[in-house]
Amino acid sequence: MKILAIETSCDETSISVVEASGGLDNPAFSVLSQVISSQTEIHAPWGGVVPNLAKRAHSENIVPILFEALEKAGLSAVADNPAPVPDSILEILHRETEAQTDFADRLPTIAIPDIDMIAVTKGPGLEPALWVGINFTRALSLYWDKPLIPTNHMLGHAVSALLSDETVTFPALALLVSGGHTEILSLDNWTDIKMIGETLDDAAGEALDKGARLLGLDYPGGREISLLADQARTENLEKKFDLPRPMLHSGDLNFSFSGLKTALLYTVKKLGEISDTDKKIIAREFEEAIIEVIVKKTFSAVLETGAQTIMTGGGVIANHNLREALKIEANKNNIKIIFPPTDVSTDNATMIAMAGYFDYLKNKNGADASEDIIRAEGNLGF
Ligand code: KG4
Ligand code: ZN
Repeated sequence: MKILAIETSCDETSISVVEASGGLDNPAFSVLSQVISSQTEIHAPWGGVVPNLAKRAHSENIVPILFEALEKAGLSAVADNPAPVPDSILEILHRETEAQTDFADRLPTIAIPDIDMIAVTKGPGLEPALWVGINFTRALSLYWDKPLIPTNHMLGHAVSALLSDETVTFPALALLVSGGHTEILSLDNWTDIKMIGETLDDAAGEALDKGARLLGLDYPGGREISLLADQARTENLEKKFDLPRPMLHSGDLNFSFSGLKTALLYTVKKLGEISDTDKKIIAREFEEAIIEVIVKKTFSAVLETGAQTIMTGGGVIANHNLREALKIEANKNNIKIIFPPTDVSTDNATMIAMAGYFDYLKNKNGADASEDIIRAEGNLGF
């Protein structure tokens, strides 16, 4: 089946069309189109995502992105008998923005696309941002008469590793490390999912972004820290600073990164002026502290659950040092670990289409788009 999916939970507006097949026994996905518009530059001056700026950018971008995604998937045939958009649907569209007013004129110009359903992220994420995608999807679902599947963004990150064409043997774990979340999920199959570890305060990506800011680096900081850390390695710079490994021996599967960020703050304050060399050495220590804790907790979870496969996802999983450290440990433990291709490690709508397929297989029906029953859930969990 063909799934159109819409993602607006944070600072990427993304729409994909994905062909899904194989059911729960043998799920397979092929990406017909994926369009992502990143708002990094808008939020960079603030050092983090500003919800109302994100909302406005989603509203401005979502219509052109829809047309681009449909066109790339070969689904933008001209309509023969365009039906005007009814007032009830216009009312839903106008809740989010005036930027969508021209949409009412453009929407009827294309024929109803050959898709089977529309998936949208309903949480977790920034609620003002989520609402843009939700109301836009409700309007589309009603106008085209297609089922609407509300999905969980973190399920999307969990299943994105399937795009690497690897198979998953259950029980499995999903290690999700992003700007908003650090979680370990336990999966008995594609629909029985439990969260068994999470961060008690900052997410790993958030700690990297805040740490980068303390070091005077650009936002988003994860990649910047990683680049400096790599320079410290290639230049063989000697370790000079000790940062803590929070919760390493806590005996559970939870994380905490805010103390690490505070320790970094004190290190930086104590130095006053930081030389470029010290920056590299600190970046390496900071990255290693985060990696060490993530690896330790993940393999404690393997022991606890008897997992056969580890799926990984989320923006921080793009970090090659983290990937290497996880691979080494997976080899030692003789367990399979799979990674999403880098372009679907960070937020995208392809993973939302994939999550939507599993939700559809579980529930076999869509939500009622005509009623106000699909709500943004900023803290949606499992
Ligand atoms: O999953 P994502 O795109 O958005 C959220 O849902 O949060 O993750 C974004 C996070 C940011 O904190 C960013 O600094 C981090 O992923 N990130 C990285 C790398 N690329 C992105 N962290 C470490 N190394 C990277 N190469
Ligand atoms: Zn994400």
